[in-house]
Amino acid sequence: MIPSPAYALIYLAAAVLFILGLSQLSSPRHARRGNLIAALGMLVAFAATLPLLHRTELNLGLIALGVVVGAPIGAWAARAVRMTAMPQMVATFNGVGGGAAALVSTVEFLRAPAGGAALTLSLPVVFSVVIGAVSFSGSGVAYAKLQELMRGTPITYRGQQAVNGGVALAIVALAVLLVVTGVGGAALLGLLLLALVLGVAFVLPIGGADMPVVISLLNAFTGLAVAGDGFVVNSPVLIIGGTLVGASGTLLTKMMSDAMGRSLGNVLFGAFGQVVAGSAGPVGAEGRSVRSGSAEDIGTLLAYAQRVVIVPGYGLAVAQAQHVAKELADALEQRGVTVEYAIHPVAGRMPGHMNVLLAEANVPYDQLKEMDAINDSFKTTDVALVVGANDVVNPAARNSPGSPIYGMPILNVDEAHQIVFLKRSMRPGFAGIDNELLYDPKTVMLFGDAKASLTKLVGAVKAA
Ligand code: TAP
Repeated sequence: MIPSPAYALIYLAAAVLFILGLSQLSSPRHARRGNLIAALGMLVAFAATLPLLHRTELNLGLIALGVVVGAPIGAWAARAVRMTAMPQMVATFNGVGGGAAALVSTVEFLRAPAGGAALTLSLPVVFSVVIGAVSFSGSGVAYAKLQELMRGTPITYRGQQAVNGGVALAIVALAVLLVVTGVGGAALLGLLLLALVLGVAFVLPIGGADMPVVISLLNAFTGLAVAGDGFVVNSPVLIIGGTLVGASGTLLTKMMSDAMGRSLGNVLFGAFGQVVAGSAGPVGAEGRSVRSGSAEDIGTLLAYAQRVVIVPGYGLAVAQAQHVAKELADALEQRGVTVEYAIHPVAGRMPGHMNVLLAEANVPYDQLKEMDAINDSFKTTDVALVVGANDVVNPAARNSPGSPIYGMPILNVDEAHQIVFLKRSMRPGFAGIDNELLYDPKTVMLFGDAKASLTKLVGAVKAA
């Protein structure tokens, strides 16, 4: 509800701040500023809404309690969360957003006049209830999978598609009934329950490691549910904010799937990570030899190189090795070695994972090279130092049509003169498949936790 043109202008200003903030998130160089601008937009929208609350019969005490309890919890959680647990936190925040959107619509429908809700109310209500509830329960399952509270592998059973299809059909039937008649509190609660069931059923067969993509999709759902609420309570700022989240979440989902070389359909319905047919067994199973080196030898190799490209991956995040990686780069640069970082768009487990980690370690942005910008220069790279990455450098993506990662764009690490892998074992990465590059004659392995190995390498480079 907008009481005056002044309010319309304030809300418009908030919407503009959201858009500006989003546009700044496109590069790590100004992402922090983008976050602050968007947060300012939220503050403007929130502050402008506060004086309007006395016009409603809402319980102001309850609202104040929600803010007093919720805000410190949110602030604490955002500061305390480990970087590797960030997808879980996004799932939680996103899930409660979807749940709240569904509840707002439910309450507005139940408050509709006795004659029933008009189509302009019943349509967005049904939309928000279904999408918001799916997002709420789906995010809960995504959280549980990532937090290892439940099995992370796809949970499938015979007839699953039929059961899910049945639930979806029942939802459509109830939704049509509610939209057309505009009455039926019990039917709406039934719809809410069914949508909660669908959210769980939809995420169960998806593998834990695909959860970041699912969370991004559910994030888009929450945005759309909130936009639906905007129509229900007549709030343009909710409509704009929700639509922006819906659109950006959809784009992010598409970009993540593309960067993994998979369709969204494959992510959602492919039960990826269940059984990987044709993948090589554990290492050494075929008796192939692997060359491992000492930190001293590898330190000397790095120290006398002209150009070293560090390729970070999920293992860097697990080991929290970003600061030592920067120390190693500094030590090499002091010796006149050119150092750059090759960033694969889906290295790690969430969008921008490597950028965030390396920014935390104060790695200069101009040393972070996106895949397309750096791929051609591996040919002229003396040493590619792969730190806890695996799938994103696996040539099977290029050479093995049967491989689950076939078609995924990769970093051309195999073209470097020498390759050094820092990982703890020969175990595969997220995709669960063997990596030929580990057996390449120009590859040297330094086994161990990435942080410990990098620390040894810093010493070795300084001593070389
Ligand atoms: P992965 O292929 O998952 O490989 C990570 C490697 O890190 C593992 O082989 C592991 O080997 C090693 N590692 C783990 N802990 C370590 C530690 N403490 N010290 C040293 N090494 C350690 O990672 P990647 O190359 O970054 O590829 C990312 C994968 O995740 C891709 O398949 C991508 O499609 C998928 N994915 C990404 C996203 C986003 S948005 N980033 C979302 C969903 C899925 P050891 O166990 O032998 O140490």
